[in-house]
Amino acid sequence: MNILSIEERWLWVIIYIGVITILWPFSVLIVSLFFGQYRFFTKYIGRIGRRIGIGKNLSNAKLPIGNKQQATTQIPANIAIFASGAGSNAQKIIDHFKNSDVVKISLIVCNKPGAGVLAIAAKENIPVLLIEKEKYFHGNAYADELKEKKIDLIVLAGFLWKIPDRLIKVFPRKIINIHPALLPKFGGKGMYGNFVHQAVINAGEIESGITIHYVDDHYDNGDIIFQARCAVLESDTPESLARRIHLLEHAHYPAIIEELTKPAE
Ligand code: GRF
Repeated sequence: MNILSIEERWLWVIIYIGVITILWPFSVLIVSLFFGQYRFFTKYIGRIGRRIGIGKNLSNAKLPIGNKQQATTQIPANIAIFASGAGSNAQKIIDHFKNSDVVKISLIVCNKPGAGVLAIAAKENIPVLLIEKEKYFHGNAYADELKEKKIDLIVLAGFLWKIPDRLIKVFPRKIINIHPALLPKFGGKGMYGNFVHQAVINAGEIESGITIHYVDDHYDNGDIIFQARCAVLESDTPESLARRIHLLEHAHYPAIIEELTKPAE
């Protein structure tokens, strides 16, 4: 083995490292552009960047909950889930945070006696606030009760009443919702449950999905925090599409809530 051949071998090692570290990610990026995974890819890279201390924080998505100074007083972050349906999302969120030190599901708020979510609350031993139209729309919107319970974040999961201005003022950027379609399409008043899925199918969409967003004073209008997609099949009915959407909701809503309530570094 002479010196020259050792050098040549090192040259190949350097070329190999160069190909792996530069060409490979570049190829993945190109492929991701064609297969609709670009957003996922950029988010993934962003997350790695943040882990190693470079890149921007998700400041527009992050709620001002539990920063270091607050940590002693505001952890766990208290979440109120507003729901008036079956409560499958509420159940997933409750399960996700069952052993959490940082998040506590402190309250279920419901406007429908007999709703499935109330049985879930009873089973899970979570206090319930059953609300009435008059006080909600024309009274204090239960803001005092929520403040008294030190609620940090309101999570809407199948809650159909519009959120009154008063609550939005008291909980600015601390109310989030999940919508079973890709906003800004297929949102607004009357767009809930199977009405959404029927509209998606009628419009001949080839994909639908979920949108998690902040709540402002218009239906389904606030800043988008997260979206995930799924295919709409030719054979889909509103019910079959709803099942696929529910799976997406269950997979992502708890994780996004966790991300939003993470104490700032
Ligand atoms: C979900 O599809 C959600 O997107 C919408 O209401 C539905 C609630 O379902 N806002 P569940 O009661 O959690 O099963």
